[in-house]
Amino acid sequence: MIGKLNHVAIAVTSVEAAAKQYKSILGANISSPMDLPLHGVKTIFVELDNTKIELLEPIGDNSPIKKFLKNNPLGGIHHICYEVSNIIDACDKLKAEGATILGSGEPTIGAHGKPVIFIHPKNFNGTLIELEEV
Ligand code: CO
Repeated sequence: MIGKLNHVAIAVTSVEAAAKQYKSILGANISSPMDLPLHGVKTIFVELDNTKIELLEPIGDNSPIKKFLKNNPLGGIHHICYEVSNIIDACDKLKAEGATILGSGEPTIGAHGKPVIFIHPKNFNGTLIELEEV
């Protein structure tokens, strides 16, 4: 069912500071910052040949990243995103297997304008997993 690794998301206190580090120390290509207030995040992508790193900074008091940083003040890996070809099929399969889909339990339009679901970490080795339809 799953295809490529789409991105690994890292929660940070400042996307600019984190991106600067990736650029100046590791020589990475980075995207322009983007505010996604509906999702409570500001993002910058570190663009690699085979995948992306999504740097996430909280925006607003209800940002899920704000809570994460409270528990992980240095930042840390927040979620891993795998690609799927059909998000409805993926969602149905996961529910049939007893997995918990976060939110309404149905696919929503994610931060990149594509249908996504998030699977509860309790179902996958303590890792928050995002599936994105591509
Ligand atoms: Co993501």
